[in-house]
Amino acid sequence: MIIVLSVGGSVICQSQHRFAEYSQVLKNLSSDHTVFVVVGGGATARKYIEKARTFGADEAFCDTIGIGVTRLNARLLIAAIGCDAYPVVPETQEAAVVAALSGRIVVMGGTTPGHTTDAVAAILAECAHADLLINATATDGIYTKDPKKYPDAVKLDEISPERLVGLIAAEKMGAGANLPIDMLAAKIIERSGILTVVIDGSDPSNVLVAMRGMQIGTCVR
Ligand code: UTP
Repeated sequence: MIIVLSVGGSVICQSQHRFAEYSQVLKNLSSDHTVFVVVGGGATARKYIEKARTFGADEAFCDTIGIGVTRLNARLLIAAIGCDAYPVVPETQEAAVVAALSGRIVVMGGTTPGHTTDAVAAILAECAHADLLINATATDGIYTKDPKKYPDAVKLDEISPERLVGLIAAEKMGAGANLPIDMLAAKIIERSGILTVVIDGSDPSNVLVAMRGMQIGTCVR
């Protein structure tokens, strides 16, 4: 199988231990599968972007700072994986596909101002003809509403890409679903029909559960 994993910076940067745990899971996966990982920027990206804003930097400039941090986090994961990782962080999805010809785990960060690493991962899943996109986030799946605000919010075991796009659009109108996937990523998942699973990234072994096709988090299909 060809698998793309998008892991939030806030998820993987929790601790050094978390990097080590993810590297172990990825090495296990890569013995039988082609594995790509896209790493987010997390709190460090937000901190740097905030500082740049205080100097009056424009948003595109701030995004390039964010991209820099995602690539730094990608480098850290490469260090944790060691020899099984492709040693360079590809700067485009095309370069990532070429890097995968090495047979090693390919780790990248952001690519384009205005995007998120979830969108990068969805585009990479298209380019690599991935069988599965796994989104390891800070929540345990997709809810009908923001579960922190609404006690009657329901976690969905499964959602169609069309309904996901609708939920994200409704959130923008103020309904407050607080979704772990952004609109661009959802649109790409919709147009390509990429099988996607949103999981709680705080336990890296959830990646293996999702890969085996067992019920976990929310499946987008
Ligand atoms: P992300 O928002 O994708 O990181 O990128 P993240 O770590 O997954 O976010 P958390 O952990 O869920 O909070 C961080 C920042 O980098 C820039 C954006 O400014 C984004 O907010 N970025 C990232 C881009 O501009 N383009 C990209 O392709 C990726």
